[in-house]
Amino acid sequence: MTPLWVLFLALIAATHGETPGCKIRVTSKALELGKVMRLGFQMFLEHELETITIPDLRGSEGPFSYNITEVKVTELQLVQSELYFQPTHDLILNISNASISLRFRRQLLYWFLYDGGFVDASAEGVSIHTALQLARDPGGRIKVSNVSCVASVSKMQAAFGGTFKEVYDFLSSFIISAGKGIMMCLMLICFDAQICPVLHHAGLVLLNSLLDTVPVRSAVDKHVGIDYSLLSDPVTSTSNLDMEFRGAFFPLAEANTSFPNRAVEPQLQEEDRMVYVAFSEFFFDSAMESYFRAGVLRLELIGDKVPKDLDMVLRATFFGSIVLLSPTVIDAPLKLELQVLAPPRCTIKPSGTTISVTASLVIALAPSDQPEVQLSSMTMDARLSAKMSLRGKALQAQMDLRRFRIYSNQSALESLALIPLQAPLKTLLQIAVMPLLNDRSKRGVQIPLPEGIDFVKEVVTNQAGFLTIGADLHFTKGLREVIEKNRPAGDLAMVDAVPPPASSPTQ
Ligand SMILES: *[C@@H]1O[C@H](CO)[C@@H](O)[C@H](O)[C@H]1NC(C)=O
Ligand SMILES: *[C@@H]1O[C@H](CO)[C@@H](O)[C@H](O)[C@H]1NC(C)=O
Ligand SMILES: *[C@@H]1O[C@H](CO)[C@@H](O)[C@H](O)[C@H]1NC(C)=O
Ligand SMILES: *[C@@H]1O[C@H](CO)[C@@H](O)[C@H](O)[C@H]1NC(C)=O
Ligand SMILES: *[C@@H]1O[C@H](CO)[C@@H](O)[C@H](O)[C@H]1NC(C)=O
Ligand SMILES: *[C@@H]1O[C@H](CO)[C@@H](O)[C@H](O)[C@H]1NC(C)=O
Repeated sequence: MTPLWVLFLALIAATHGETPGCKIRVTSKALELGKVMRLGFQMFLEHELETITIPDLRGSEGPFSYNITEVKVTELQLVQSELYFQPTHDLILNISNASISLRFRRQLLYWFLYDGGFVDASAEGVSIHTALQLARDPGGRIKVSNVSCVASVSKMQAAFGGTFKEVYDFLSSFIISAGKGIMMCLMLICFDAQICPVLHHAGLVLLNSLLDTVPVRSAVDKHVGIDYSLLSDPVTSTSNLDMEFRGAFFPLAEANTSFPNRAVEPQLQEEDRMVYVAFSEFFFDSAMESYFRAGVLRLELIGDKVPKDLDMVLRATFFGSIVLLSPTVIDAPLKLELQVLAPPRCTIKPSGTTISVTASLVIALAPSDQPEVQLSSMTMDARLSAKMSLRGKALQAQMDLRRFRIYSNQSALESLALIPLQAPLKTLLQIAVMPLLNDRSKRGVQIPLPEGIDFVKEVVTNQAGFLTIGADLHFTKGLREVIEKNRPAGDLAMVDAVPPPASSPTQ
């Protein structure tokens, strides 16, 4: 009888929608320890902010007129920045006490006195608070769905050197206040207003182009594909970012196939490493079912592909049947046809991961010019142990044959007759089939990470019904490099300037 709690869990799963086959947790360690990431982010922002274009300022007040043009950000220093998760969907970037150096051209006219030249100015105490809201887009991909930003500059300083220094001293307080007014404008209206659009663009366009490199549905090889669609919006707590993925393979020829997930839902509780990935039994089952449906779980060995020893043992075993055949067939090459009969099943337990396979083995003589003659057909049950590991971004499995049994599904007597074949067939599997399997699984399947990021120092842990991999992140490429490479065509790393204020900025 089904225990009540199983029904209860099934009910929870049913009301929760689809069960994830794969989960990923990024902990705040990735943000704290990952100085590289913060640094990369800073460098990236510095680069983006340096592309700010501040509109020209032109205005006049009575006899005084001015032009402020060619404003350029010459340097940007982000000394303090914090990157953290905030419930329930946000990644926060808080920059405080940054400084920005500017250079601009001034043209001032007061009655008949003209003054021109460049001014070096700096904005001190720049603080920028940005919240990137993370969500699942309709295609199942993680996206920055909204960016909110508050920026302020607490102090602006300018060095008005140059030819007309005395003029400033000479001129009335009016021009001084006008000068202050210009600085105020640069600081408040123009400058603050420029920072947020840059961050908005950085978040919505550039980070999203980085996130576009995370594979959602992609081909693994020429037979199967993997679906890493997010099932819901990513969820943040103060310490983690958690993502739930479908984590299901599908046969490429039937891309619409979806296997029902009745496996245990993986649970992620740890927070010590930068990142955790969990895969349920379903993830592996869907892989094997996809290969099964794609018709690749079969193998044919004929003639000299059959090891000599085995050939001899088989001919000896079936001697009784062979001698009755016509002489033209007796010397024909042997053919072994191995075919998996049902999708193999994976079982994950704390003690290890095993895969159970049931296959049929047909042994026949295959003369080149005549129909083949079947000598025997048997069923084999095999149990493989699988050891999962990560290499870079690829999840790999190394399989070993553990248990193996052949029997005839026709009669117990025939099964008895097959006992002598047990050992040589096991050897065949070990030398001819397992390397093939491992060769395929060695290529591995990519886990959904953006380009330029790999796992290092990973630890694989088996749990009941799922396995988890804890790892740290390693940046194989600079964030800037990846973003530049994936920058959408036509994106000029610039934000359109806001139009200059219409009113005169004096006082
Ligand atoms: C941003 O960081 C500064 C300095 O660490 C801090 O004073 C400020 O409260 C932070 N702002 C927010 C909104 O967390
Ligand atoms: C801000 O930075 C300036 C120099 O860049 C430094 O003197 C000052 O102490 C900093 N203030 C805070 C609150 O960190
Ligand atoms: C400001 O620029 C305009 C257009 O370039 C020019 O006509 C005007 O004379 C300039 N004003 C000053 C004070 O240089
Ligand atoms: C985006 O963020 C802004 C500012 O926080 C907020 O007013 C707006 O409602 C948000 N939009 C969406 C679609 O969440
Ligand atoms: C997949 O489904 C879509 C619509 O549900 C259908 O139009 C398409 O023909 C299907 N493709 C295959 C290969 O079954
Ligand atoms: C025995 O197995 C073969 C394939 O190995 C299958 O075709 C046949 O139907 C099976 N017979 C019975 C009685 O299950």
